Amino acid sequence: MATITIQDENRKIEDVEGIRDFLKPFGIWYENWDVAGRISADATDEDILTAYQPEIDRLKKEGGFVTADVINVCADTPNLDAMLNKFNKEHTHSEDEVRFTVEGRGIFHIHPEGGPVFAVQVESGDLINVPAGTHHWFDLCDDRKIRCIRLFEDMSGWTPEYTDSGVDANYTAVCWGPNYLPPGAEGQSDSDSDPVVKL
Ligand SMILES: [Fe+2]
Repeated sequence: MATITIQDENRKIEDVEGIRDFLKPFGIWYENWDVAGRISADATDEDILTAYQPEIDRLKKEGGFVTADVINVCADTPNLDAMLNKFNKEHTHSEDEVRFTVEGRGIFHIHPEGGPVFAVQVESGDLINVPAGTHHWFDLCDDRKIRCIRLFEDMSGWTPEYTDSGVDANYTAVCWGPNYLPPGAEGQSDSDSDPVVKL
């Protein structure tokens, strides 16, 4: 289940209806899918796409998405910090960013025009979209692991357009949950490689 945190208002939302109602005015839809028993521990990306084919087909029909894939990131992923540094600065995309979290956790910070910045922490079962043009950034949680289904309208919308506002520096990516650990522990050094991957 997702959690919304509005740091500037010292406010937290943790129920499905409350989350949906809060996100709706920003054009963000939220769904929580039943994930129990849907995939095995050693599921491949193809297995995941097959397991969630009905939901993927529904979203394609409803939202005009043409393709889906799986992004797989963990602490052992080569050049993880370089990859994450592409997405933890405020940016926009020219198409919706649609993510269903299969495993792991992460935080989308959303910076709406005229509204306070809020964080949407997602975990297994959570589907959200970040509408095209919305200012946002993304961080992994301390366990540095996420496996997501991504849906695309057009591959050209992958590229982040940075705002260079620096507002992201004012917000800490604190993940809540039973496995909470203070952030900033282990890290991997950047390398020469600069993979173009969008989370
Ligand atoms: Fe993004």
